Amino acid sequence: MNIESIGVVGAGTMGSGIAQAAAAAGFAVVMIDVSDTALSKARAAVMASLERLRSRGMVDAAAPEAALDRILTSTDYGRLASVDIVIEAASENIEVKGRILRLIEAAVRPDAIIATNTSSISITALAAQLVDPSRFVGMHFFNPVPMMSLVEIIRGLQTGDMQAATARALAERIGKSPIGVRNSPGFVVNRILMPMINEAFFVLREGVASAAEIDDGMKLGANHPIGPLALADLIGLDVCLSVLDVLLKDLGDPKYRACHLLRELVAAGRLGRKSEHGVFQYK
Ligand SMILES: NC(=O)c1ccc[n+]([C@@H]2O[C@H](COP(=O)([O-])OP(=O)(O)OC[C@H]3O[C@@H](n4cnc5c(N)ncnc54)[C@H](O)[C@@H]3O)[C@@H](O)[C@H]2O)c1
Repeated sequence: MNIESIGVVGAGTMGSGIAQAAAAAGFAVVMIDVSDTALSKARAAVMASLERLRSRGMVDAAAPEAALDRILTSTDYGRLASVDIVIEAASENIEVKGRILRLIEAAVRPDAIIATNTSSISITALAAQLVDPSRFVGMHFFNPVPMMSLVEIIRGLQTGDMQAATARALAERIGKSPIGVRNSPGFVVNRILMPMINEAFFVLREGVASAAEIDDGMKLGANHPIGPLALADLIGLDVCLSVLDVLLKDLGDPKYRACHLLRELVAAGRLGRKSEHGVFQYK
């Protein structure tokens, strides 16, 4: 199936990043959110991000305005009626996503593909919320979307071959490098990454080294571009905790139990960069 227009539902960190990357690649984008404030913040974020890329010479002078012109923002799901694919990037909650997916399915053409950017919810379980589950596929982008190359293309039990192939081809046209993944808790990257981040919290709590030294250790000794604790702050400590809880519940192995320190920081509202304080402080 040839994709020309893309709907994005949820105009937060990921939705605005996906909209930006798609518009910059020449696609017409319709971005939906329940909140007008979120939509105007998303437009401002897209503009600021494209301006940064322009000032570094990574896009040409006309690119920011041209990309923004391709993004239509609305609170009306009816605006999705003509798009070829919708990528859901709203809040990480199975009930919320279930409601949103049913609204999307009621709004789009019968042949439109529906994708989700969930980081931890089962693609098979979300597909089961739809009348036509074969049209549903996972497209897991990484944060920040304009900079990160990977997209995990996740097939639920019901995902059709054409829909999975179309999602993969779309990721490539947006300039990303997709990998194919079978639905499984945490998919590939978070299944491997989150236990490492969790272990860094155990090491910190045991006083083996300071936070800065743990991060330096992994940067200098394992050649990681960012330390695990700074990465946790970037992702959001609440997001890390919820992914670990899903891994523990769905895989049933105690090796995925979240470190108590991570739970404490989340309970204290220290969520990372977005709250200006996580493991480290940001001002
Ligand atoms: N933040 C990350 O690093 C990251 C990385 C990969 C995937 N994800 C996944 O992407 C999704 C979005 O995450 P985020 O960090 O952008 O969240 P966010 O909180 O920044 O944004 C979520 C947006 O969804 C909107 N929303 C809520 N209910 C809605 C509805 N009914 N209709 C339309 N919009 C609605 C909210 O108003 C908000 O603007 C989640 O599923 C998350 O797991 C996040």
